[in-house]
Amino acid sequence: MSVTKTSKDDIYSGDLILVNAMHGIVSEVTSPLVPVHPSAPSILMCSHAADALNRLMREIDGWTSIVPVSGWRSREEQQKIWDDSLEENGIAFTRKYVAVPGHSEHQTGLAIDLGLRQEPLDFICPAFPDSGICRIFREKAAGHGFILRYPAGKEKITGIAHEPWHFRYVGIPHAEIMAREGLVLEEYIDFIRQTDLF
Ligand code: DAL
Ligand code: ZN
Repeated sequence: MSVTKTSKDDIYSGDLILVNAMHGIVSEVTSPLVPVHPSAPSILMCSHAADALNRLMREIDGWTSIVPVSGWRSREEQQKIWDDSLEENGIAFTRKYVAVPGHSEHQTGLAIDLGLRQEPLDFICPAFPDSGICRIFREKAAGHGFILRYPAGKEKITGIAHEPWHFRYVGIPHAEIMAREGLVLEEYIDFIRQTDLF
């Protein structure tokens, strides 16, 4: 397996930033946040990630059937989602599907939740089936720098349940290598650390 030369700092900032239960947000978003689509002006991502998402959506005419559900979140928003979910769904569900405030990669501006355009639309767990346009999106995602961040079978590593709707921008070629090798971000970063690239 070969990787593009990268810097150790890429693990703590930039598009490879690792945010999970063990690694909280260490820096605020540095690149500008923009709406991912004019139909949802309050759903924001870092501009380069939003551009990549829109390139992919244009290629597959995705926005006719897929809606953006949640993009960048402030710590306060993540706290509110956590608190509301705790009240409505209980602690077991909340731990599975909501990152602890300060530890959500939505706070980086590089994550996006997407859902099939249908009513009702669940905010925490939107429908993103493994068929039709959603499957096409998933197949094309890595080629545009996106990974399915919380796949089935890797829950013990990511600390989060399978979330078919949550995509994370890591850029190219990282997304393509991770998809090809079946690595989640934690595993990919371990791999980079073990190499002599620095
Ligand atoms: N649903 C993901 C894990 C989050 O809350 O960041
Ligand atoms: Zn998400």
